[in-house]
Amino acid sequence: MTRFLGVAVALAATGAFAITPEQMLSAPRRSTLTPNPSGKLAYFSVSQYSFEGQESSGAWKLLNTETGEITDAGLSADEVNEIVWIPGSETGILYINGTNEEIPGGVTLWIGDALSPAESTLVASLDAPYNGLKVANTSSGDLHFLVNTLAYPNGTAYNPESIVTARHTGRLYSNIYPRHWDVWLTKERYSVFAGALLANSSYALAHSGMRNLLQNINYTVTKPESPVQPFGGSGDYEISPDGNIVAILSKATHLNKANFTASYIYLGPFDGSEVPYAFNGPETEANEAGHEGASGVPTFSPDSCKLAYIQQDGIYYESDRWKLYVLDIALGYGGKISTSNWKGLAPEWDRSPSDIHWAPDGESIYTSAEDYARVRIFNIPIDSAEDYVPKNLTGITSVSGFSVLPDETLLVSSTAVWSSRDFYTTKGDGQQNILFSATEADENLAGLGSHTFSEFFFTGSLGLDLHAMVIKPSNFVENKTYPLAYIIHGGPQGVNANSWSTRWNYQVWADQGYVVVAPNPTGSTSFGQYLIDAIQANWGSYPYEDIVLCWEYINENLSYVDTDNGIEAGASYGGYMTNWIQGHELGRKFKALMTHDGVSNTLANYASEELWFIRHDFNGTVYDARPTYDMWNPMNHIANWSTPHFIVHNTLDFRLPESDGLSMFNILQSKGVPSRFLNFPDENHWVLNPENSLFWHTEIFNWINHYSGVGGALDEIPIGD
Ligand SMILES: *[C@@H]1O[C@H](CO)[C@@H](O)[C@H](O)[C@H]1NC(C)=O
Ligand SMILES: *[C@@H]1O[C@H](CO)[C@@H](O)[C@H](O)[C@H]1NC(C)=O
Ligand SMILES: *[C@@H]1O[C@H](CO)[C@@H](O)[C@H](O)[C@H]1NC(C)=O
Ligand SMILES: *[C@@H]1O[C@H](CO)[C@@H](O)[C@H](O)[C@H]1NC(C)=O
Ligand SMILES: *[C@@H]1O[C@H](CO)[C@@H](O)[C@H](O)[C@H]1NC(C)=O
Ligand SMILES: *[C@@H]1O[C@H](CO)[C@@H](O)[C@H](O)[C@H]1NC(C)=O
Ligand SMILES: *[C@@H]1O[C@H](CO)[C@@H](O)[C@H](O)[C@H]1NC(C)=O
Ligand SMILES: *[C@@H]1O[C@H](CO)[C@@H](O)[C@H](O)[C@H]1NC(C)=O
Ligand SMILES: *[C@@H]1O[C@H](CO)[C@@H](O)[C@H](O)[C@H]1NC(C)=O
Ligand SMILES: *[C@@H]1O[C@H](CO)[C@@H](O)[C@H](O)[C@H]1NC(C)=O
Ligand SMILES: *[C@@H]1O[C@H](CO)[C@@H](O)[C@H](O)[C@H]1NC(C)=O
Repeated sequence: MTRFLGVAVALAATGAFAITPEQMLSAPRRSTLTPNPSGKLAYFSVSQYSFEGQESSGAWKLLNTETGEITDAGLSADEVNEIVWIPGSETGILYINGTNEEIPGGVTLWIGDALSPAESTLVASLDAPYNGLKVANTSSGDLHFLVNTLAYPNGTAYNPESIVTARHTGRLYSNIYPRHWDVWLTKERYSVFAGALLANSSYALAHSGMRNLLQNINYTVTKPESPVQPFGGSGDYEISPDGNIVAILSKATHLNKANFTASYIYLGPFDGSEVPYAFNGPETEANEAGHEGASGVPTFSPDSCKLAYIQQDGIYYESDRWKLYVLDIALGYGGKISTSNWKGLAPEWDRSPSDIHWAPDGESIYTSAEDYARVRIFNIPIDSAEDYVPKNLTGITSVSGFSVLPDETLLVSSTAVWSSRDFYTTKGDGQQNILFSATEADENLAGLGSHTFSEFFFTGSLGLDLHAMVIKPSNFVENKTYPLAYIIHGGPQGVNANSWSTRWNYQVWADQGYVVVAPNPTGSTSFGQYLIDAIQANWGSYPYEDIVLCWEYINENLSYVDTDNGIEAGASYGGYMTNWIQGHELGRKFKALMTHDGVSNTLANYASEELWFIRHDFNGTVYDARPTYDMWNPMNHIANWSTPHFIVHNTLDFRLPESDGLSMFNILQSKGVPSRFLNFPDENHWVLNPENSLFWHTEIFNWINHYSGVGGALDEIPIGD
């Protein structure tokens, strides 16, 4: 308990409201909204962790989008994993019940009505933990649905509860890519399964059962898999509104997963009469026009006659610009699918669309894209000219999800530095009809607001105006100074944005008694592709110089910032940059540094599985482009390491193995530089468990607060503790 005192003391001294890590972590977390066909009601889920009870609780809620009234949905979150609205009905729902009394490890599918959920009926007993439900209501009245789960090599759905434990734990590989993110690869792959619920049989599952749609696709190198791991979900596949065609994303089957990001969209008939084929794969119009990279978000038009999707050009560049495409699609005799009129939408627009929603009349597409350090919504007419530049329809906060209602009102779920969730409607004219704001609703967030938030631009190393965010403490007093907390983002193709995070919450850092400045140096996304691309082969030059220039701007122009007692922190590439800063002049400007899961040795990057990433970012492999790896290697600047440094590195971070953090720490210790090492054996690149996250915050804040002077003495950690 005493280990938490450092944090508590720092806050008690100030009096006014400030948000603590504990408050942030135990505040409710709400999903985005899923509106019904008329748009009058929307589901969302909420989960909350209690430090007292040491457990999480969840609930399903219904929002009335006209009044903002929120009611309990009457479905237990312990039982119901997912709910979808049935098209063509007002309040009909289909949901996945995560339990199955007959088949341990399986789930059940239920049909019901949102207004009387207790009267729902079980329609299908499924023998594996299926998820990612999508449903179409067909002209026959039958419901066609898609779900996904892991499948055995023979295509049968995999139920982890029915397997016999092997006699040894060895893992044997003969191909590149044995593990990824936080998972060691096994023989099973995720697959999309189709099923039909028959209207003439009380929506019982058709006798054909669950059909694996990927199983018969031929491949040479990589077995088709969807959703694409580790982050893919139900957005990786889609069923046409008429229920006849499926579109499924999978990585390129002729390329290995370690070297390439390329993925394609497979089209096939729902009934399985033809095997799905990659309509934008090799030897297709799209591919031959040079669009060879990762694809995403296949989305059918309301009339099922068109498909929109996004794709990158670069075959191994994960941060290449995403471009939007649309084509006509038709299901022919015998299940043959034909496509025509393929074209790019707003192909010259210098942003990366990430989400697709058709206007109800099918005449335009709404998309969201990062734009000046937030995510905004844009609209693009289908018949727009090549040089069309869409205008933003939303303003200063970040869109996390949205829907287009039948009258073309946008229903938006958003976050900001000061709010974990807002729900609002807008016509895209700058006016928001706020339906819900977490800052108003949640006791833990009370008092937060945009008053602590500001932005500035400074001139960067390439002569461009670069952006930075400033977050003052909640109890900021004029004419007082606060030590700088300088936070560098990861990626490096990422962004410090006006959005809420439970991992790097700027306001929580500021409320320890700092002014947080979060710069967006070369490599940052949301400002156009030039700035993103410019970091290639330049990890330690332009971004570092930008970070120095921004520090000088703060030092000269932000009178309320105490740069003499500042600290600097970053995760991932932000951790790399922190390690780079430790070896360079800027490192001497800080009282303490903090690296979370960062690169310390560029030559060790080959312990990662994402070989495409370093090959792009260092402009070649470690054997072809060795000088670049050497030029930007933090390990070549050990002689200068001298600033107190806190290192975090987690065991399940397979892209950035913990040896990077350990070697950094061991060198700092050997050199007598005050340092600490924090490891979570059960966390990956992120710290997700709230108890772990509280420990992370507490120990890091004790450390930086001590060195910046905001906090007190550091407690001793006995050897071996
Ligand atoms: C499917 O849509 C039709 C209208 O097109 C509707 O009458 C029917 O109730 C819907 N099916 C279900 C199960 O809600
Ligand atoms: C979920 O399924 C269990 C049986 O496995 C049943 O007892 C429970 O009522 C179901 N809950 C809902 C909301 O369907
Ligand atoms: C597929 O493989 C699994 C695991 O070996 C086995 O349990 C299952 O019966 C097989 N399915 C078929 C249809 O052969
Ligand atoms: C019910 O509908 C299915 C598919 O729509 C059809 O194959 C089947 O013959 C129908 N059964 C009856 C009893 O009408
Ligand atoms: C897959 O390959 C087999 C063997 O070459 C061939 O018979 C089959 O037609 C191919 N299937 C597809 C969908 O291309
Ligand atoms: C891609 O992976 C293969 C191993 O399958 C390897 O032989 C090849 O050299 C790699 N290419 C590059 C550019 O890294
Ligand atoms: C679009 O963004 C600009 C700032 O770049 C903002 O001033 C404007 O209000 C936004 N438009 C809408 C409709 O929110
Ligand atoms: C801050 O300092 C300025 C200039 O010294 C002074 O005019 C102002 O009244 C001070 N503000 C507060 C809130 O003390
Ligand atoms: C301080 O701000 C002024 C005005 O924006 C700018 O011209 C100047 O370059 C800034 N100072 C530094 C060191 O960046
Ligand atoms: C990357 O390497 C190619 C040649 O292999 C070179 O033409 C290009 O200029 C390099 N790019 C950078 C950013 O160094
Ligand atoms: C140490 O830092 C100084 C000043 O930035 C720099 O000139 C020198 O090259 C650095 N030494 C090493 C080994 O990085």
